[in-house]
Amino acid sequence: MSMKPLLQLFAHQDVPDVPPIWLMRQAGRYLPEYRATRETAGGFLNLCYTPELAEEVTLQPIRRYGFDASILFADILLIPQALGQKLWFETGEGPRLTPTVNADGLEGSDIMQTLAPVAQTVARLSKSLPPETTLIGFAGAPWTVATYMVAGRGTPDQAPARELALNNPNDFQAIIDLLVAATIEYLSAQIEAGAEVVQIFESWAGSLRGVEFERWCIEPVAEIIAGLRARGHQQPVIGFPRAADYDMGVYVARTKCQALGLDTFANRREIMAQVPEEIILQGNLDPLVLVEGGDALDRAVDEIFDDFAGRRFIFNLGHGIVPHTPPDHVAQLVKKIRKIK
Ligand code: CP3
Repeated sequence: MSMKPLLQLFAHQDVPDVPPIWLMRQAGRYLPEYRATRETAGGFLNLCYTPELAEEVTLQPIRRYGFDASILFADILLIPQALGQKLWFETGEGPRLTPTVNADGLEGSDIMQTLAPVAQTVARLSKSLPPETTLIGFAGAPWTVATYMVAGRGTPDQAPARELALNNPNDFQAIIDLLVAATIEYLSAQIEAGAEVVQIFESWAGSLRGVEFERWCIEPVAEIIAGLRARGHQQPVIGFPRAADYDMGVYVARTKCQALGLDTFANRREIMAQVPEEIILQGNLDPLVLVEGGDALDRAVDEIFDDFAGRRFIFNLGHGIVPHTPPDHVAQLVKKIRKIK
């Protein structure tokens, strides 16, 4: 059997005619079959913690579209929950946690006791996925996860976490250190269960600058990747520092990630110039263009191919699929990409 297209891209320097494609949030509310399974599960967290159902929703977009990669169905906020923080989802609003300003009461938890079902989902998927589909595991980057832990919810500007980091860097560092250790543990478990690539989601990289960016975004991700390597895990890592106003050449050099995810507003040509050829780029179609479909979608795809010409890249969105995306537009996208030569 020939190698899986996405793993092939990591293993060789050649630029394929057709890039591998997968989409962030490819399993989700835009699919009627997802909504049905979520109903059966009785809520999003039950879905995450029930291996058969999490496996099912992970497979749904693969059956429909035949993506080159499948991302484990889970959430970046399961780690704080496994560390002992209360987590729930308010319907239509998003995540809620009991806010914390330090690591007290969170230390010493065996996170894999809570997260074992997630590893089981990975193990099931590594048997049930088609042979050509790569299985991607993931975790949130410590800074992004900490922004939710400190505020107890999503915030527009991450002010609670930024204030804590400025006013009480030692307490904030303790939270970050806890997350680094837990994330190494969690990603190692995913890899040992069969994840072939892992992505680290840094959704809120854009709220830090300069030394703060280096300390709270770059350094923890560098430690996580070094921790995985120290355990003998060689699987490629995709870093995704969203909206980072920073030299991405420095980010990849310091974190030692193998691929870099570009967000919707990232300047492809500028980043290509900053980042060495051996780093694979991923992205970055605007999710709203996917909602629009038609000619706008075709044009935006052509632009991405023009910019990335001659470079190894993974086709993806610049952020997750939005719930009102028409499923037919996703089919249009996959069809178009596989016709481009
Ligand atoms: O990409 C995938 O398909 C894999 C699964 C996945 C989910 N969340 C499922 C999910 C992944 C990789 C995530 C990552 C995640 N979760 C991030 C980083 C990426 C990003 O979007 O910036 C963040 C910040 C979270 C935290 C989170 N989870 C929020 C803010 C929300 C609410 C927003 C929303 O869309 O409802 C969630 C819920 C969530 N995570 C859903 C899904 C499918 C929707 C839950 C539902 O079915 O109601």
